Amino acid sequence: MQKQIIEKLQKKLLLWYEEKGRKDLPWRNLQSIHCDDRLRQIDRAYGVYISEIMLQQTQVKSVLEKFYFPFLQKFPTLQSLANTNEDDLLKAWQGLGYYNRARNLKKAALECMEKYSGILPKELKKLKSLSGIGAYTAGAIACFAYDQKVAFVDGNIRRVLSRLFALKNASMKELELKAYEILNLNDTFNHNQALLDIGALICLPKNPKCGVCPFYDFCKAKFNPNSYPENKKILYEKLNLFLIFMEYKEQIAIKKSQEKLYKGMYNFPLFKEDEFKKQKNMIFLGEFKHSYTKYKINIKVYHQILKIKTKDYEFKNFKELKHIPLSILSLKALNLIKF
Ligand code: ADE
Repeated sequence: MQKQIIEKLQKKLLLWYEEKGRKDLPWRNLQSIHCDDRLRQIDRAYGVYISEIMLQQTQVKSVLEKFYFPFLQKFPTLQSLANTNEDDLLKAWQGLGYYNRARNLKKAALECMEKYSGILPKELKKLKSLSGIGAYTAGAIACFAYDQKVAFVDGNIRRVLSRLFALKNASMKELELKAYEILNLNDTFNHNQALLDIGALICLPKNPKCGVCPFYDFCKAKFNPNSYPENKKILYEKLNLFLIFMEYKEQIAIKKSQEKLYKGMYNFPLFKEDEFKKQKNMIFLGEFKHSYTKYKINIKVYHQILKIKTKDYEFKNFKELKHIPLSILSLKALNLIKF
């Protein structure tokens, strides 16, 4: 793209952001005069870091309404993360899913204590060396927390750039080069936040709003946006599972998961059909659907009163369950019971 065109595109993007961008998002205003009272004591780099990790797999609305402030209240500093135990951390992460993210937060906090005097480093290379921080998150922290003039690409920016330059299958390296090609060195913070907003509000995966896009004049895909980037079909597998609320003297059976994605989170007993068929004396409570990685799961929920405690599980009463990190699947199942 020619220099003059790039300058026009940058100007249009910032004008659009000024008018329509989500400038008030709390992690975009850390330590500014407009800053939300709940964030006054929060270090800017730390607040940006937590927001970027949460936003990796969770919608802005949900992070904003349910998770960001309570998490920062519980863990207001990197130090507090480094000192926490896993159950407390996973409890605060409950509902966000992808629990490796939470475990990596603690690991990265410890790494910062050890190597970087307890603060998040500024350099991209050092940031990338921390657990759970990849190229995108390192770039976002460098720019949004430390005002560095760096470009980065997440899923949304990938779609925006793939369309702008009509790239069907560009590699991350190619996309990063494109991101640098259009990077605004005079206002990098707002430029990058605006790109994220274009991806989230305008350049949507389906039915993008090309007519109101500030990139309309420059976009090579405006007449066939759905062709860019090429869709990779995700092959989902259907799975039927059976969840049993096993009750013994007003206590409920739970098990700590060792599985990679759920590691450390608790689940109610879950069975595949053949194991489930061996169970007796159950009352059907209902069913629900749940997506988990490549699985589309249908879960049937049952209640069973036990006469003897089984050693396979821990047993907790309802009060105790409130303090235990439960998987989203198990939380959904809880909605079906009223003990
Ligand atoms: N998604 C990832 N980073 C974001 C940010 N800083 N603002 C809004 N959405 C985001």
